[in-house]
Amino acid sequence: MSTNTMNSSSPNVRTSWAARLMHTLGLVLLGVLLTGCERPSPESVQSGYRGTGMVQVYNARLLEAKTDKNQPPFAIPSPGSDGPKAAQAYKNVKILGNLSVGEFNRLMVSMTSWVAPQEGCAYCHQLPNFEADTKYTKVVARRMIEMTRHINSDWKPHVAQTGVTCYTCHRGEPVPSAIWFKSNPQPYGANFMGDKAGQNTPSPVVNMSSLPNDPFTPFLLDDQKIRVNGPTALPSGNRQSIKQAEWTYGLMTHMSNALGVNCTYCHNTQSFQNWTNSPPQRTTAWHGIRMARDLNQTYMESLTDVFPEHRKGPTGDVAKLNCATCHQGAYKPLNGAPMVKDFPELLKPALVSTKVATK
Ligand code: HEC
Ligand code: HEC
Ligand code: HEC
Ligand code: HEC
Repeated sequence: MSTNTMNSSSPNVRTSWAARLMHTLGLVLLGVLLTGCERPSPESVQSGYRGTGMVQVYNARLLEAKTDKNQPPFAIPSPGSDGPKAAQAYKNVKILGNLSVGEFNRLMVSMTSWVAPQEGCAYCHQLPNFEADTKYTKVVARRMIEMTRHINSDWKPHVAQTGVTCYTCHRGEPVPSAIWFKSNPQPYGANFMGDKAGQNTPSPVVNMSSLPNDPFTPFLLDDQKIRVNGPTALPSGNRQSIKQAEWTYGLMTHMSNALGVNCTYCHNTQSFQNWTNSPPQRTTAWHGIRMARDLNQTYMESLTDVFPEHRKGPTGDVAKLNCATCHQGAYKPLNGAPMVKDFPELLKPALVSTKVATK
């Protein structure tokens, strides 16, 4: 036995070497398999009637990481609306003129901390000329204030009284972490391959599935049909197709990811199209789709000429928003912390002045 092992050319030694290799490989494989198991084991919460399978599955560790990311920022107390108005005190105030100087300055300091805490006032202002509109960031910011007011005043069916501030999207960064551009259209070559519709190109947008990886252009910019169920039992004049359904599934996958929920958060999967069996969250989501589309069309696209080239996408379009821009993995952005409560300046002025008038 021992003489055998001493002899390196004996077949026995080779077998044990191979056995050891197999053993190591086996351990590695087991390790790979076990990393598939979640730690700690997930918890499930029922969100619909028994037997409908409407459950949300949570992993406490991932939930905790998300909770840390979704803490609302500290709000500087308001100095009140007394005193001279910003329109009187400053030279080039186009939209914030009705605020008191105190409210105006609180908003400037807060905006700085929400959008450009590293860069400070100089991110938007050509110091020391605060009135100059020379930096594109200031021109964008003015439009962003109007957009934020529009969201808080006109999109209550989606954002309710919770509302948003710049922080909901920006989280202390000049460029929000979740934005999207139109994808580069696939060039048609001399081959006979059709457009692959952004499929089979793994993308986190659709959770690495083989669904079309730009469901945003048709649904959150253009107004393409999302419903896929045919209106008639027989294919008489029914234009719905599996191809069309794949685009809808792409959007739905993004929505689930953006909110950190399963399909069953909004659907009873017995019938995806049925509204009477859907929880109220689906109606909120319906408004959310229209809101995202409106914001992209009315606000983001109108800024195309203002943004410098290096901020634009491969086809020269401006950055746009989707569900993840605000939600960032939470079913309510910042876990539902009321944002507009402390900043009535971010409601449309008409609403603020009626409040003042009734005082
Ligand atoms: C994210 C962009 C942004 C940042 C950062 C910012 N501002 Fe502004 N600021 C604006 C915009 C937009 C206006 C114009 C508002 C309007 O037209 O109603 C403005 C206007 C002003 C004005 C009025 C100037 C005039 O005479 O017309 C002052 C003063 C001012 N900001 C001070 C500050 C100070 C101080 C800071 C830093 C604490 C700051 N801003 C940070 C965007 C910004
Ligand atoms: C609904 C989401 C959303 C809200 C709310 C929002 N923004 Fe933006 N903001 C965006 C997106 C998307 C962009 C485009 C990103 C880029 O710059 O490429 C952007 C860009 C900007 C930029 C340009 C940054 C750069 O470096 O190019 C400024 C400045 C800005 N926002 C200021 C504000 C201010 C101030 C507020 C609050 C009054 C605000 N934003 C609220 C989504 C939002
Ligand atoms: C946050 C809520 C929400 C989540 C999560 C969600 N959906 Fe939807 N779903 C909707 C809404 C709202 C509509 C209707 C859209 C419209 O008509 O504009 C819809 C429509 C659909 C339709 C078309 C139904 C018809 O009328 O033909 C299908 C199919 C669908 N969803 C599948 C899914 C799948 C699969 C998932 C999970 C990957 C999912 N949904 C996750 C809200 C949601
Ligand atoms: C401008 C920011 C913003 C964008 C963009 C946005 N949401 Fe929301 N959403 C909110 C806010 C704020 C709330 C909390 C409203 C409340 O407190 O009831 C909310 C609530 C919801 C809820 C209700 C959650 C619940 O449990 O009651 C759903 C569902 C939802 N959003 C889906 C979507 C979908 C789907 C999209 C993209 C198509 C989207 N949202 C885009 C800001 C946004």
